[in-house]
Amino acid sequence: MGQKIIILGALSAIAEATARRYASNGAQLVLVARNADRLEQLAQDMKARGAARCDTRTLDLAQETDTTAAFGDMMVALGGQVDAVFVFYGLLGDQRHEEHDIVAAARTLRVNFSSAAEWCLAIANQLEQQKKGVLVAVSSVAGDRGRQSNYIYGAAKAGLTVLVEGIAHRLAPKGAHAVVAKLGFVDTPMTAHIRKKGLLWAKPADVAEKLVAIAQKPDMPVVYVPGFWRLIMAIVCNVPARIFHKTKL
Ligand SMILES: NC(=O)c1ccc[n+]([C@@H]2O[C@H](COP(=O)([O-])OP(=O)(O)OC[C@H]3O[C@@H](n4cnc5c(N)ncnc54)[C@H](OP(=O)(O)O)[C@@H]3O)[C@@H](O)[C@H]2O)c1
Repeated sequence: MGQKIIILGALSAIAEATARRYASNGAQLVLVARNADRLEQLAQDMKARGAARCDTRTLDLAQETDTTAAFGDMMVALGGQVDAVFVFYGLLGDQRHEEHDIVAAARTLRVNFSSAAEWCLAIANQLEQQKKGVLVAVSSVAGDRGRQSNYIYGAAKAGLTVLVEGIAHRLAPKGAHAVVAKLGFVDTPMTAHIRKKGLLWAKPADVAEKLVAIAQKPDMPVVYVPGFWRLIMAIVCNVPARIFHKTKL
């Protein structure tokens, strides 16, 4: 039997590419997303690609729920042990609109931060108890510096980054791991409205390959994917405010 993997937000383009990699290695998968029909199709595809088993859970992951109980139910499908749990789901939102529609802003904050934080805490408790396994949560370089174009989404991702970094610190002495992956631009439905050009744009399959490698060897709690974003964001973070405020970034 292959590895035991849970994917929250399994219908994200990057999540699907990640699931495919595990399926072809005979993994046992639990896929969680909110669209039952698409989830079922994905599960069939995973079995066809070689997954030893593929269970699904249809859930709106941002809805208030007892995450400990819901995550426990996913664990039952895997016989009580898990090797890696990925938290992929997210919502870019519409920054300009949300500045004046605070209910919409709250939704973006809930999807990307507070609900994700609740799932990560439930996952951390499981990994701490089993003394092995890894949480991989997907964050964004948008959390590195507040910018007028996306600071609501960015603030939520910054919160998620710190939370998962803290979980990594907590789990390290117990033999389990957590990694937060800060992604740069990836060509997915989330960025479909943005004109894509240049070398800064990554493909979901390449990001998935890197995330699977990170889960195999989780030696750094915070990683940039692709790695060159560490340098780009170091530069962005060090531009003095008097210059930065003249940009439209
Ligand atoms: N693409 C980028 O450039 C980029 C950059 C940095 C970070 N990221 C992060 O990467 C992750 C994956 O995004 P992606 O680029 O693969 O985009 P994507 O294909 O649009 O995936 C986003 C997924 O999140 C799911 N989702 C949103 N709210 C949900 C909820 N309440 N419950 C369950 N699922 C929910 C969506 O489900 P539905 O299909 O049901 O709407 C969708 O499948 C996100 O966390 C994103 O913030 C992406």
